[in-house]
Amino acid sequence: MDVYTDVLVIGTGVSGLYSALNLKDNLNIIMISKGKIDECNTALAQGGISVARGVDDVDLFVEDTLKAGAYKNDVTATRILAEESIENIDTLCKMGFDFDRTNDGLSYTREGAHSINRIVHYKDKTGKELEETLLKQVSSKKNITIFENCTMLDILKKGNACAGALCTREGVQVSIHAKVTIMAAGGIGGLFRNSTNQKILTADGVAVALKNNIKVKNLNYIQFHPTAFFNNNLSDRKFLISESVRGEGGKLINCNGNRFVDELLPRDVVTKYIYEEERNTHCSNVYLDVTFMKEDFLKNRFPTIYEKCLENGINISKEPIPVSPAQHYFMGGIEVDTFGKTSMENLFAFGECSCTGVHGANRLASNSLLEALVFSKRGARKINNDISTIPMINLDTPSLDYNEKYYKNLNNKIFIESLVKVRGDIKNELVNC
Ligand code: SIN
Repeated sequence: MDVYTDVLVIGTGVSGLYSALNLKDNLNIIMISKGKIDECNTALAQGGISVARGVDDVDLFVEDTLKAGAYKNDVTATRILAEESIENIDTLCKMGFDFDRTNDGLSYTREGAHSINRIVHYKDKTGKELEETLLKQVSSKKNITIFENCTMLDILKKGNACAGALCTREGVQVSIHAKVTIMAAGGIGGLFRNSTNQKILTADGVAVALKNNIKVKNLNYIQFHPTAFFNNNLSDRKFLISESVRGEGGKLINCNGNRFVDELLPRDVVTKYIYEEERNTHCSNVYLDVTFMKEDFLKNRFPTIYEKCLENGINISKEPIPVSPAQHYFMGGIEVDTFGKTSMENLFAFGECSCTGVHGANRLASNSLLEALVFSKRGARKINNDISTIPMINLDTPSLDYNEKYYKNLNNKIFIESLVKVRGDIKNELVNC
């Protein structure tokens, strides 16, 4: 089956939805989602969205981001991130995003490696609220069509110009031809045994980039979140215990009940200390203690975490939460400029599958949703400016020896092989490896 559109957006998380919303209304847009529309990491994000506390905070926000990233960040992109944070949070407020508030306005919390409180949030479900807010806007747009359960297997291309994507939907091959293609295909956690990510997120965007000689960057930068709920069930996605729990004062203790680390150091540092502590104490996990906080506060500020822990037999107001690190975020990805433009013509990449360089070697807490907002809007505006000069490339539908499973395995293999070349040490963390 062949389908034609102006813009194809691969992915329905924040970067896919927000880019579509920032494209002109006279463009035809098709969005595809590998699973259900909201089966994305955005909907799982708990902590919040970082934002500069006014222009006077931009320099400090940039410095915090660079320091957490071990100064491996792209400085220009990081400055853009901080400078454009405020306008994007304002836009979300205008869309009706229900951020938590105090009598003075937005409520700002703290997370690791931020010098000040600069994270806006909605309880511990910021990502879910964001996904729902954006989806509501998208569903009111007549020019946007969403195909659920539609997997991208490869891009369509002519020379070094992208012409859409080859997909599969309910067993049927669909070639979606587009003037411009946006890769917003999300993260890599589905390839890890132990990850906080949606299982269906298996690095598809980066794998397809590698296969088509599109430039990628920083494949070695993988973030392990310090505090995922610990249990022995390896087949489950790991449930995140948000860094904002430590931001609100939660304490890490070892299995003997002793504190061992400053909880608000950068994520990679806290993770390292936890692994060390687990080794030294011969325990498979440590604990996050919030028992000194009032139960009503915990229920109201962290309702999802409170309920989920209760389902797992832990009343967090009475006993510490068993936690251990798990794969959480990929700082590397498809190399892009500050408009999300990749090394292939007519192909953009936004969000976790892209690498703007803002995160350096270790992402500062709550900068992921912000990066997706800032750069997908910039990219959409560039597409709006340029698309009238981009012709639809006429391609014959590739006649494939069509085999969905073969393509999926091939994509996984291509990504895993490239990853293991630069991060041999995490080989045992990967599934089927
Ligand atoms: C968290 O709530 O700890 C996750 C937020 C993030 O990944 O920045």
